[in-house]
Amino acid sequence: MNSNINALIANHQPGHGLAQAFYNNADVFQTDLQEIFYKEWLFAIPACELEKSGSYVTQQIGTYNVIIVRGSDDVIRAFHNSCRHRGSVICKAKKGNNPKLVCPYHQWTYELDGRLLWARDMGPDFDASKHGLKTVHCRELAGLVYICLADEAPDFEHFAEITRPYLEVHDLSNAKVAYESSIIEQGNWKLVWENNRECYHCGGNHPSLCRTFPDDPSITGIEGGETPATLQAHFNRCEQAGMPAEFYLNADGQFRVARMPLKEGAESYTLDGKTAVRRWLGRAPFADAGSLLKFHYPTTWNHFLSDHSIVFRVTPISATETEVTTKWLVHKDAVEGVDYDLNRLTEVWIATNDEDREVVEYNQMGINSPAYEPGPYSQVQESGVLQFVQWYLDTLKRNCAPQTLAAE
Ligand code: FES
Ligand SMILES: [Fe+2]
Repeated sequence: MNSNINALIANHQPGHGLAQAFYNNADVFQTDLQEIFYKEWLFAIPACELEKSGSYVTQQIGTYNVIIVRGSDDVIRAFHNSCRHRGSVICKAKKGNNPKLVCPYHQWTYELDGRLLWARDMGPDFDASKHGLKTVHCRELAGLVYICLADEAPDFEHFAEITRPYLEVHDLSNAKVAYESSIIEQGNWKLVWENNRECYHCGGNHPSLCRTFPDDPSITGIEGGETPATLQAHFNRCEQAGMPAEFYLNADGQFRVARMPLKEGAESYTLDGKTAVRRWLGRAPFADAGSLLKFHYPTTWNHFLSDHSIVFRVTPISATETEVTTKWLVHKDAVEGVDYDLNRLTEVWIATNDEDREVVEYNQMGINSPAYEPGPYSQVQESGVLQFVQWYLDTLKRNCAPQTLAAE
């Protein structure tokens, strides 16, 4: 199989879409999990979702199931959801709150930091300290929780250092989740990303988003040459007001931050373009600060606005199914019905997500045809897609086990 992957990578035609197998083949999907999702840092949740000690969520990533829990010391940790007795799942629910983690099978009881506290009748030689929950790497970055399933996680510090000043403005530690939606798109996870990384499709598909979000490729794509004067003026205005704004794309292509302007006069993703929440989340000095656009492959893109923030998470389910979870974050003291109307807050992105689901599903259907042949991307409109595909291929090559490459 891995030699097939290497052949597929070698045969990739620069500037073009990927070959069909990358989008619908079960073995390639397995490789994507193995080499990307099981090795890279993954966005998990906004930290505010774990409100107090004992709050937890569980997440399925490929064949792994992970518990993410807030400890009595307030630290968020992640563990494999597999009991050290006979392996049962410990937390069955998607989210909840427990003072301890108790296995439902024989009630082995773990502390929130993973230590095994209690196991009945295991005899005098049993060493509880050797049977704590297996940890998953877990880091909190300015209110966003990332996990990594690899034994040895790649560096997180550089990403954190670069993005923290951009994120801190948004004060996510004082956020709450106002609403969340999860949809399953019948499409490969890379098609979800490719669609996200261009706005070539926006004019024809996103009537409500296009009221406020510009489909100008200098804003939606990646920087190619000079920054236009109006964009630079927006960066300068934000930076002078204490909000980091300048476009930053990491050298390896995995993440990007940039505080981009919305359309003239627009403040937030609402139908009338005005802010959706009266009590703002974060310290934006003016309403028209635009949106801090952040992506971090392979799991998240985000919009941080002057009044609220939106985080998206991409979870691959199968070669042709992907879950997209969206969470709308508002200030923890903002009151629904008083400071914001939930429908007004969420309607633009609920509609946009559904429109994106539809284009991704038709994209997948067309690719499944034996007649599919990778076509050329627009250099003007799809620089972001080219950038994603390049990151994907580079990461696959880099992460593929050394013995596989040696066997080539
Ligand atoms: S499998 Fe968990 S206590 Fe037995
Ligand atoms: Fe879209």
